[in-house]
Amino acid sequence: MEYAVLSNNLKMPMEGFGVFQVTDKEECKQSVLAAIRTGYRLIDTAAVYGNEDAVGDAVREAIAEGLCTREELFITSKLWVQDMANYDMAEAAIDASLKKSGLEYFDLYLLHQAMKDYFSAWRALEDAYEAGKLKAIGVSNFYAHVLTNFCETVRIKPMVNQVELHPYFAQPQALETMKHYNVQPEAWAPLGGGRYQPFEDEMLQGIAAAHSKSIAQVILRWNVQRGVTVIPKSTKQARIEENFDIWDFTLSDAEMEQISSLDLGYVGPAIKHFDPQFVRGCNNVKIHD
Ligand SMILES: NC(=O)c1ccc[n+]([C@@H]2O[C@H](COP(=O)([O-])OP(=O)(O)OC[C@H]3O[C@@H](n4cnc5c(N)ncnc54)[C@H](OP(=O)(O)O)[C@@H]3O)[C@@H](O)[C@H]2O)c1
Repeated sequence: MEYAVLSNNLKMPMEGFGVFQVTDKEECKQSVLAAIRTGYRLIDTAAVYGNEDAVGDAVREAIAEGLCTREELFITSKLWVQDMANYDMAEAAIDASLKKSGLEYFDLYLLHQAMKDYFSAWRALEDAYEAGKLKAIGVSNFYAHVLTNFCETVRIKPMVNQVELHPYFAQPQALETMKHYNVQPEAWAPLGGGRYQPFEDEMLQGIAAAHSKSIAQVILRWNVQRGVTVIPKSTKQARIEENFDIWDFTLSDAEMEQISSLDLGYVGPAIKHFDPQFVRGCNNVKIHD
């Protein structure tokens, strides 16, 4: 496992395990345990996923089984849009996330979207960070211009920006902006999130065969080799192991370029956070009364 060093010197694993859409509590707990047994140390959940409690249960069981210590784990959660209306709501929601998970702190806590009053919500994250409840704070789905304005404005700059990043949506400009502000890029949907067909691509098949690896392993490797943390999701044991087995090969510069040439930009099924319908949709998702 390789690590990124965040702007506050915290070490963050370059690969983690995502639990979006794993709504069955027992399945979520067992998947996280399988991931930790495999060697993953970063787990990515969110208030809106409804499984912070199952992740907390898995963490406690893993520690009790002697698989790892709490200090070795890097647990991420995210503040949902509903709770970004003002400082007080954000502050209460951070405490609610901690209570649900049963954890004393999160290693990383993110603003899930650049929506509602995200500057006020950020001040609550800054204060929780300084109080030690959050070891690092960051943002998610902040496009280059939004991130730039944000970093030019806030007191504590975000340490991470988690955005959609895979060969079909490579976002080179977003990465340049993150580098400029020393913000670690983290890829959600690193396998395409089921909206693309990388597994049928002949060029990827050729590169995978050349390294005796799978296409999933090749595209995860492509992201980590360009400095991006990846958090693939799977509820299947074999895939959880397959996705973690990316540390014993290196893609050549030519292979990296070939894979990058698949980029479709916004033309394609990438989630478009600037679409008014998407923004209204997020604003309407309520996770509590
Ligand atoms: N910040 C945000 O707005 C945001 C948005 C979306 C996701 N995320 C985070 O990012 C994580 C990953 O994103 P994602 O779950 O959307 O997409 P993903 O990890 O790119 O893809 C997951 C899909 O790929 C399948 N899969 C996993 N490993 C595979 C393999 N080796 N070969 C073939 N198929 C494989 C999974 O099916 P099986 O489970 O059946 O194996 C699942 O259908 C999430 O779990 C979440 O933590 C964040």
